[in-house]
Amino acid sequence: MRVTIFGTGYVGLVTGTCLAEVGNDVVCVDVDANKIARLERGEVPIYEPGLEPLVRANHASGHLKFTTDAAAAIEHGQIVFIAVGTPPDEDGSADLSHVLTVARTIGRTLSRYTVVVNKSTVPVGTADAVRAAISAELSARSSEVGFDVVSNPEFLKEGDAVQDCLRPDRIVVGAESAHAVDLLKALYAPFNRNHERIVLMDVRSAELTKYAANAMLATKISFMNEIANIAEQVGADVEQVRRGIGSDPRIGYHFIYPGAGYGGSCFPKDVKALEYAARAHAYEPRLLSAVEAVNAAQKRRLFALIQRHFGESLAGRTIALWGLAFKPNTDDMREAPSRTLLEQLWAAGATVRAYDPEAAAETRRLYGARKDLILCDQQYAALEGADALVVVTEWKAFRSPDFERLHALLKERVIFDGRNIFEPKVVEAAGLAYYGIGRGRSV
Ligand code: UGA
Repeated sequence: MRVTIFGTGYVGLVTGTCLAEVGNDVVCVDVDANKIARLERGEVPIYEPGLEPLVRANHASGHLKFTTDAAAAIEHGQIVFIAVGTPPDEDGSADLSHVLTVARTIGRTLSRYTVVVNKSTVPVGTADAVRAAISAELSARSSEVGFDVVSNPEFLKEGDAVQDCLRPDRIVVGAESAHAVDLLKALYAPFNRNHERIVLMDVRSAELTKYAANAMLATKISFMNEIANIAEQVGADVEQVRRGIGSDPRIGYHFIYPGAGYGGSCFPKDVKALEYAARAHAYEPRLLSAVEAVNAAQKRRLFALIQRHFGESLAGRTIALWGLAFKPNTDDMREAPSRTLLEQLWAAGATVRAYDPEAAAETRRLYGARKDLILCDQQYAALEGADALVVVTEWKAFRSPDFERLHALLKERVIFDGRNIFEPKVVEAAGLAYYGIGRGRSV
């Protein structure tokens, strides 16, 4: 099939590449000429395991093309995906200006029946707004070309995006038109093997499904962070509690890991946008507000533990950080808990020596060169001259360190484990003090 994708961010680029990989002719469009030029050279502007070789192979075979020419791209596609960004507005609502700009461009260009698919995370009602924007442009030029608008939200996770896209657990399709459904079923057939993964529904339900999924996951995390804080107060270990409740299949083991708070480009933004949408429809979302408030407090938790250990002033202290990205296998720092911690440590007068396998360049871009931030290119180098180690992101390389080496390098011999990746007994046996998240003994 001939497919066009607007937006070469995470969602657009991964979707386009995976659709090309199964034999479609895909054209990816972006307004950013520099990004398109880089993609043309086979350079992938984001860190996503497995993506670059797929982009290169499909570009070389001619199945995947990149352009800034929106009109030509619209001419190309039987199916046109909108996968542009929906950044939060100041009030937390999703900013739809990019989505609607694409819709108007489609309306100005369309010359034959096309299925327009919304893949960006957009509030309920956006498909209607896209339909209206396209129709307005069509009537302005007295065109009667037919089109359908479908909602097909994306559920990929950064770091696993290629796998999630090639082997989705579900494909949500919200559509009113049988013809559009048939076309999408054919497009997704290569990913729909073994059992039926396509979940058909109406457009508004599909739009809400995306927010409900992310809000549910964010709720699980905030719930566990709250239990962790209670565990700490009552002298219980949340890691034992986690295993105890996860074994109930109704609860499950996934997404109940307490930590330094959730970050990234999706949960914080989507929870806020859903809250905003609820209020806009005269419903006060009490649970969602609490999920957000618990998360904001959790992002400050590590600093509170550090401050409690060292006393009020951290001036003159050097703190080593392992992990800066909002989660492992990405260089993404958006809403990362490390940022809250860095900013609190600096405000308290501490110097930070940090190591992250991928996010150093992004950290430098965000904070520039400053005396109180030393970015190290090796994990043990971050410990040289440091008082304490704080684990902020659970990269695999941090999971079983050489504790003797930590003991030798750290001045104050204390570890703050923001992801509970260590066994407290093992750390303490090595002569180091241990603080985790919700592990009773740190009261
Ligand atoms: C999330 C969803 O998991 C995807 O299904 C969704 O498609 C995506 O948002 C999106 O809307 O685009 P992502 O933001 O890439 O994916 O990252 P996650 O793996 O979900 O992690 C989010 C945050 O939650 C991270 O900061 C992570 O450290 C934290 N987390 C996750 C916990 O603190 N505890 C857990 O048990 C799980």
